[in-house]
Amino acid sequence: MKLETQVIHAGGESDPKTGAIMPPIYMTSTFEQDAPGECRGYEYTRAGNPNFTILESVLAAIEEAKYATALSSGLGALTSLVSQLSTGDRVVALHGLYGGTYRLFHKVFNRYGVECLTPPLSDAKTLEALFIKKKPKWLFFETPTNPLLDIYDISALARLAKKHGILTIVDNTFATPCFQQPLKLGVDIVWHSTTKYIGGHSDVIGGAVMTNNKEIKEKVDFARMALGLNPSPFDTWLINRGIKTLAVRMQKHQENAMAVAKFLEKHPSVKTVHYPGLPSHPQHQIAKKQMSGFGGVVTVDFNLSPEQTKKLLSSFDLFTLAESLGGVESLVNHPAIMTHASMPKEERLACGITDTLARFSVGIEAIEDLLADLNKIPQKKR
Ligand SMILES: Cc1ncc(COP(=O)(O)O)c(C=O)c1O
Repeated sequence: MKLETQVIHAGGESDPKTGAIMPPIYMTSTFEQDAPGECRGYEYTRAGNPNFTILESVLAAIEEAKYATALSSGLGALTSLVSQLSTGDRVVALHGLYGGTYRLFHKVFNRYGVECLTPPLSDAKTLEALFIKKKPKWLFFETPTNPLLDIYDISALARLAKKHGILTIVDNTFATPCFQQPLKLGVDIVWHSTTKYIGGHSDVIGGAVMTNNKEIKEKVDFARMALGLNPSPFDTWLINRGIKTLAVRMQKHQENAMAVAKFLEKHPSVKTVHYPGLPSHPQHQIAKKQMSGFGGVVTVDFNLSPEQTKKLLSSFDLFTLAESLGGVESLVNHPAIMTHASMPKEERLACGITDTLARFSVGIEAIEDLLADLNKIPQKKR
């Protein structure tokens, strides 16, 4: 089955009892047992619920994974993974992490003795030397990265990590399985903030972990239950409702994003446009090799002052100034002040998150209206 069909049908067909085309919402905390310890598949919603199972079937199908686990949020998904590490374990996390991911490693799990290392360069030699010296448990990265949309070569990195017995973990939130399936490229674990494109309507927070490894799946399920990282039945129902249109939404997101990127690339007030679909993107060839589409986020470094940039970002009518991305509506974000504020300034600037950088989550509105809104950018001479 193609992904466009899976998103609609992989969760199962109509309700066998009533014929309802859409699944009911199992708003229950607990389930009747036939005898002590004899359940009909579910016992307590912190450990599992039919709405989780429905969503998990769709997520596993579209990532071409054997297993999926639905969790409370993207960071809940990450917590279910990091909590499997022990004091003294090390993670190599490549540059370009969402601010909350950075915070989880550097302000929470560091206190439990999990060390997160970020090499200055990710060329194979530097990385391999670090693997040999530090013996990390994981190689961890996003691609495209947030917010700069850098692209890492997934299969080359997964191969290198495997050679050293290291697990590779990829955040696939920006690309979605519509455009990139990291497990097929050799990665061990994929995770998502389903809050974003998968949910797609900015009305729910959720996360998920996908893998082909049974032991990892069991550990993630255990963490969900033991740490209370479960989503709510209603939230998983909403995500399952949103996912049905993922394929058509992603096509429109990327069509609009490409038009926005091309428009901004010619704009005199724009210094740099970061979009992996543009031939000018430094890793465009890698993106073409491993992605079947380039996503809906466009990041721009303005040729304006930081004050002008801040003023501009609150002046749009359709690009609403807000955190998050991946909803049907267009949003704009100032990473340095908003999503990446938890990164120390030097580190943020070193990886290109300047005070004049803006991240546009391009929605699925009419492109003419979006471009008209972008005409609010002042026409400063280059
Ligand atoms: C790439 C990426 N990963 C993970 C997360 C965290 O997800 P959540 O907000 O659902 O916890 C975000 C949130 O913005 C994100 O952008």
